[in-house]
Amino acid sequence: MATDFTEETAADAVIESFAPSTNPRLREILAGLVRHLHAFARETELTIPEWEAAIDFLTRVGQKCDDERQEFILLSDVLGLSMLVETISNRKFGVATESTVLGPFHVVESPVRELGDNIDLVGTGTPCVVTGRVVSVDGTPLPGAKLDVWQANDQGFYDVQQSDVQPRTNGRGLFTADGLGEFWFRTIVPSYYPIPTDGPVGELLKATGRHAFRPAHIHFIVTAPGHRPLTTHIFVAGSEYIESDTVFAVKKSLVADFAEVTDADAAAKWHVGKVPSRHADFEIIMQPDPLRT
Ligand code: BEZ
Ligand code: FE
Repeated sequence: MATDFTEETAADAVIESFAPSTNPRLREILAGLVRHLHAFARETELTIPEWEAAIDFLTRVGQKCDDERQEFILLSDVLGLSMLVETISNRKFGVATESTVLGPFHVVESPVRELGDNIDLVGTGTPCVVTGRVVSVDGTPLPGAKLDVWQANDQGFYDVQQSDVQPRTNGRGLFTADGLGEFWFRTIVPSYYPIPTDGPVGELLKATGRHAFRPAHIHFIVTAPGHRPLTTHIFVAGSEYIESDTVFAVKKSLVADFAEVTDADAAAKWHVGKVPSRHADFEIIMQPDPLRT
């Protein structure tokens, strides 16, 4: 242990203070964190008032958290850390569908729905059918795969944000793919929307001249026996903010064409009674995981 604190030796002194019995992975993570934190303070010549402002900010981030609000995850999201961790964790999965952030709105259990059901319980917005197939990386269909789906409405609000306007479970459904791994459901085209800005993360966005918007998307959690669960979105091609998602969660492979359907017969095939409507088709490729049953 150093007896004289210096800028150069401080990080080593902290790391050497960890007991030999420390879990090796915990030691690796903490050592990296300490080295980077110290380097950051040295490089920026962090002042005491700035350090105090950071402590105050993080304190308020914690105070904003409750059972329904996770301001720390939101902070991680707008700093790009959530997507970086997602991307690192999915680096090895080749052709499998890419994952994205879960987000804070998966707070209600999705109602079990039949294939073809409409998850839009309100009836405003542009009608849309979403179709697709769940397959393994070698193309084998995955019959019985479960798809938990949730989305904002055409005004950019989730049901839980508008309990006086939308019925609870609007825009949500738990579907089971058929014997060919195929799925289809009806909905409306979701809108882009802002993430919650009434907390310290909103202040950070304002202070840095950033907007708070996410491009239009539909969330999915897909599970299939013997495969790694997948948390992802499909993004509406051409949506506002597709190039500047405030949580950096857009991946090109997840952008889907919500093609306009003007032919009433083509729409009726999916029981969509109105044109123009939209049709998005999306293949979901799951990564095998022999440890899962
Ligand atoms: C969402 O898509 O629901 C979301 C994701 C990250 C932060 C806020 C919202
Ligand atoms: Fe969302």
